[in-house]
Amino acid sequence: MLHNADNNLEPGKNMKSKIELLITVAGLSLVTWSAQAADVKENWDKHCVACHGKDGKGETKAGKKAQVKDFTDPKYLATLSDDKMFKHLKEGMKEGTKEKMKPFGDKLSDDEIKALVASVRTFKK
Ligand code: HEC
Repeated sequence: MLHNADNNLEPGKNMKSKIELLITVAGLSLVTWSAQAADVKENWDKHCVACHGKDGKGETKAGKKAQVKDFTDPKYLATLSDDKMFKHLKEGMKEGTKEKMKPFGDKLSDDEIKALVASVRTFKK
């Protein structure tokens, strides 16, 4: 009979670690979720804002210098295909030998680039 007690030495402790596990799992899923939700915006702010601006108009100092185009202009957007944008972001964009936009293929994953391409279309008014 005494053995039984041995098998379940500290029931209270078991319960506690289960609750701790649950809290950890819940916490982790929250972190993952918010990381995903922020991804595109974070990447935009980190890599693209300097030239294209928060609003996608490209009215920044660097943007004007690099002569970026206005992502809020539906006529301009209509000339861009998702494939072309993806390629230009991954491999960079050149005019002759002059680099217009550097490649981001080494900094961003394909999925991140795809998300950015999609977000470019959301600046349109
Ligand atoms: C150094 C400034 C600079 C930065 C930083 C920059 N771009 Fe650009 N981007 C340009 C220029 C310049 C062009 C070419 C505009 C033109 O003449 O068509 C361009 C073009 C584009 C185009 C149109 C591509 C096409 O197919 O014509 C997209 C989409 C784009 N950028 C998205 C981004 C995203 C997303 C980022 C961040 C990951 C980014 N850019 C970072 C300067 C920049």
